[in-house]
Amino acid sequence: MRVIDGNRRLPRNVLLALSAAGWISLLYLAWVVGGDSWDRTQFSLRAMAGALPELDPFSERYRTRPLLTLFHTIPGLLFAILGPIQFMGPVRRRFPVLHRISGRIFVVIGITCGIAAFIMTLRFPIWGMTANLVTSSAFALFMVFAFVTAFRHVKARRFAQHREWMIRGFAAGMSVAFFRVMLSDVLPLMGIANFDIRWNITASISFPITVGIAELWIRATRKRDRTPREAPADAPGTSAAPAGALGVTAAPAAPSAAAP
Ligand code: HEM
Repeated sequence: MRVIDGNRRLPRNVLLALSAAGWISLLYLAWVVGGDSWDRTQFSLRAMAGALPELDPFSERYRTRPLLTLFHTIPGLLFAILGPIQFMGPVRRRFPVLHRISGRIFVVIGITCGIAAFIMTLRFPIWGMTANLVTSSAFALFMVFAFVTAFRHVKARRFAQHREWMIRGFAAGMSVAFFRVMLSDVLPLMGIANFDIRWNITASISFPITVGIAELWIRATRKRDRTPREAPADAPGTSAAPAGALGVTAAPAAPSAAAP
């Protein structure tokens, strides 16, 4: 609640409502993609054991590349479990050591999952329009970049920037879950029956929507620069101490990747 209580951009009730809606959506999306990761992991293990017959063209791409799929779905499964826990404020504050250990694991998982996604994008026969190759590669590389950047910030004790890049990286991963909900639930309900058309639509909109919402949350909860009026009376000269990079004021002493 720290990011909400200390916020003066939006009314507290609005931020609380947005936070609750965000958490419900996030847990649902993690559940969906975690379940899919579990199913596809089991499928790949069966494929490796040679226990699966030839399948439809979509599944055949996974059946013939089980190792690469496992390299993506096992980290994906852990990503869906550890991600939400990592962002829970009370867990972070009460168990800071756990937060640090699971944070390191989570960053490694995020990077591994992103690298595997990039390789999959290049190695799998592309589904839908060719542009999906470009967007999927860009999204995978963005996820890797976000977690590497988040890690560099936390090593340098720039906790505010660390929080922002963790949110961006996690949102990039969750865009895949949003993709699945749109593809299998929302677009069919809207009457779009053709699978390829649904695939192309979701591949184009899922990432910008999910990462865009995360970016709005980051900006709504980012601490403001301290203005001269807010500066302590004994501050040197007449102006406030300089703000950190990205316009964020001095970071707290303890790790504080705040709730998304
Ligand atoms: C931006 C990051 C990501 C990108 C670009 C990406 C990309 C991909 C690609 C290209 C495939 C093969 C899809 C296909 O053409 O059939 C795939 C499959 C899959 N991905 Fe990801 N992925 C990302 C992150 C994640 C994350 C974070 C998870 C889990 C939390 C995940 C779970 C899965 C699963 C379960 C499959 C198998 C899908 C199925 O069974 O149909 N992915 N991903």
